[in-house]
Amino acid sequence: MNPSSLPPSVHRPLFHSQIGAIFAAVGSAVGLGNIWRFPYEAGQNGGGAFLLIYLVLVFVLGVSVMLAEFFIGRKTHQDAVTAMQTLAGKRSAWIIPGYMGVYCALLINGFYFVVAGWTLEYLYQSASGAFGSNRTSEELGAAFSLFCSNPLRPVFWMLVFIGMTHGIINFGVQRGIERVSKIAMPLLFLILLILGVRSLTLPNGMQGLRFLFTPDFSQVTGGTFLCAMSQAFFSLSLGMGCMVTYSSYFEKSTSLVKSAIWITLLDTLVAVLAGIVIFPAVFSFGIAPTQGPDLVFITLPSVFQQMPFGSLWASLFFALLVIAALTSTISLHEVFTVYLQDRFRFSRATSTGLTSFACVVLGVFSSLSLGMLSSFTLGGMTFFDQLDFLSSKILMPMGALIFCVFVGWKIPPKTLQAELTSDGIYNFRIFPFFHFLLRYVVPLAILMIFFGGFLRN
Ligand code: TRP
Repeated sequence: MNPSSLPPSVHRPLFHSQIGAIFAAVGSAVGLGNIWRFPYEAGQNGGGAFLLIYLVLVFVLGVSVMLAEFFIGRKTHQDAVTAMQTLAGKRSAWIIPGYMGVYCALLINGFYFVVAGWTLEYLYQSASGAFGSNRTSEELGAAFSLFCSNPLRPVFWMLVFIGMTHGIINFGVQRGIERVSKIAMPLLFLILLILGVRSLTLPNGMQGLRFLFTPDFSQVTGGTFLCAMSQAFFSLSLGMGCMVTYSSYFEKSTSLVKSAIWITLLDTLVAVLAGIVIFPAVFSFGIAPTQGPDLVFITLPSVFQQMPFGSLWASLFFALLVIAALTSTISLHEVFTVYLQDRFRFSRATSTGLTSFACVVLGVFSSLSLGMLSSFTLGGMTFFDQLDFLSSKILMPMGALIFCVFVGWKIPPKTLQAELTSDGIYNFRIFPFFHFLLRYVVPLAILMIFFGGFLRN
């Protein structure tokens, strides 16, 4: 490959400012993965030990993979598939991870929108005062299962969520994505802090913190590492071209290294804060931390109904969960939309419409698979679980691996360093160390965790 023969950037909208770019990427990263998925994964995988493994993986693998994706995106200013083609050549097999990525985005959308819809239902219920009464956690759990398995209500809320995402995507990169993210993210942090303080002051709250922060390695298996790695990639939106797509809107003056570190720090902070909000409540109300995907939907209503002005707090929290989910669904939607736009030269409106349509079809099936269609399983998993499993346990780790190997081995180190430092405007003193990580440590670690996880399961 001769990098100097790259075509000039195609005509592309860019994020207005570095801070806008960071907020948008943090918006993509911070989502249901942090507030809904992280606590239940940690709960099912032994708490503190999971957190520790997660932190190491996020900062070693996560930052490296993110920088590899940033390189691909900003160097080319193209969608994930076209970007790989530009860098590797038209007939090259290296475009496979690009395709894996854009279709993986659809699969994730297929279950993500369902959960996003649930957050709208809970927002509606809190606003209408349903959590004011004193229901036990068993009752709240039963109400949640009843709701999820209902054939109409969750589908209705999911459609509303797809509609909202569709609207924002239609507005475009600056007026849609960037503007929404810049308002949503600071608010989200504020509310999490307030709720963290409230949760810590609950009776028995400290027991929850002990669970989250004291590692118990007797629980750790190969499966724990695989869960922590897929959670890390999922939470940072890595391994499927989402960060390739977002960084294709970054300006040359945006510091890639600084952005990657900020995004990773903020994303991890939100996950840990969500744990600090949720685990004290779990222990305070005698709920099992190993509960699974309904954990957040049972614990938080339990907390709120004990508080003065409970429905106000509940509404605020679920509104913010909605916002966190929204900035993530936007990014997932954008990956496929801009792929259609760049590859097939469809208009923005047509691309948005086609993507939304695909999301509706997948989403309806995955929502119904939790109720009406729950007897249709494959390998013991519902369609909803299969989408999650295939995307986060298989496609994303493989995608991350291939992106790293590609950038580590196929891109001349000089070209890589030039892009990561914006042609020398920024320092990146530990570049040789980073390059070593990218070439050897990260790919080997991903392979070992991947096979180790499956062998032991
Ligand atoms: N990272 C988001 C979350 O934590 C979800 C998400 C958005 C995502 N874009 C992604 C996950 C791309 C994987 C790939 O909720």
